[in-house]
Amino acid sequence: MRDLLTDLRTEYLGLSLRNPVVASSCGITGSVNGVRQCAEAGAGAVVLQSLFEEQIVADLGGATAGAGTAFPDEARVYLQNLAHNRGPRPYLTLIEDSRRAVDVPVIASVNCTSGDAWTDYASKIEAAGADALELNIALMPIGEGETAQDIEEAMVSIVRAVRRQTGLPLAVKIGPYFTALPHLISRLVDAGVDGLVLFNRFYQLDVDPVALTPVPGNRYSTSDELHLPLRWMSILSPRVSCDLSLSTGVHTGIDVAKAIVAGAGVVQIASALYAGKIQAVSTIICELDGWLSANGYASVGEARGRFAASGRYRPEDLERLQYIKALTQG
Ligand SMILES: Cc1cc2nc3c(=O)[nH]c(=O)nc-3n(C[C@H](O)[C@H](O)[C@H](O)COP(=O)(O)O)c2cc1C
Repeated sequence: MRDLLTDLRTEYLGLSLRNPVVASSCGITGSVNGVRQCAEAGAGAVVLQSLFEEQIVADLGGATAGAGTAFPDEARVYLQNLAHNRGPRPYLTLIEDSRRAVDVPVIASVNCTSGDAWTDYASKIEAAGADALELNIALMPIGEGETAQDIEEAMVSIVRAVRRQTGLPLAVKIGPYFTALPHLISRLVDAGVDGLVLFNRFYQLDVDPVALTPVPGNRYSTSDELHLPLRWMSILSPRVSCDLSLSTGVHTGIDVAKAIVAGAGVVQIASALYAGKIQAVSTIICELDGWLSANGYASVGEARGRFAASGRYRPEDLERLQYIKALTQG
């Protein structure tokens, strides 16, 4: 990477990062080699591929794991094999080896839906040397008897349960579909969360209308998907007290610049690592650096939150007007 023109140093989850471009949890960050390549390409930190709660439970419960759940037998066997081959013990080795291999923060990640038995494992993640823990909490609210409050309560109880097990800085990665996002976030912060990742990108369902089977939609994002996290980053960043990371749709240095002026502390990139190879990290960082310098900023900190604080975006009174204009003009 060329010499930088600006100071990109950033604090996230109490950690010092050399820049705000974080390699997001994905297949590439599931191996020490991938983690090393991300760090060599310039990433400010790396979030490891997630371990699933089900893998931990399968390892704890052996043959009975998944019993009493909605999982069919086939899924249960799959999970038990997964726990055996790429389970919680190899994951601790991944943390230890990654920590040794790179000199940027290594953030472990668990994809979970409950605050049950698996949460003991959080203390093992800490002991293995992770710098922080990111929880990917993905609850599917399809039960008719389940209310929005039930879902939020479940999320808060997961955070409380993990918080009891570890003093690690804790981030939670959530999806964008909540009725009252600011309220949920303030509850998560009260429960002990240090940072929020906005947003998780869910499996994109497509349908084969002839075979009547589900098929995966676009596996990777494009910059077109930046709008939703950008809007919520702009709304939330002046209002919340925890760190904020923007995820989904970041592919260029200009995308990072938009996230930063909207108030993001850091951005996370996954699809860009696949689309442009891991070297995309250094291109994105150089573009961000060039943009900051060209726009008169000496550091990323000077630019952070400038749009959100400008008062030009007032969702409470302007958003509806812009919506009406967009639908009535042309
Ligand atoms: C191949 C692939 C694997 C992923 N695996 C994980 C994972 O293990 N845990 C997780 O929290 N997110 C995972 N993600 C989601 C990404 O971390 C990220 O949140 C999402 O792709 C949106 O960011 P992007 O637009 O930069 O891709 C994965 C994404 C991809 C493309």
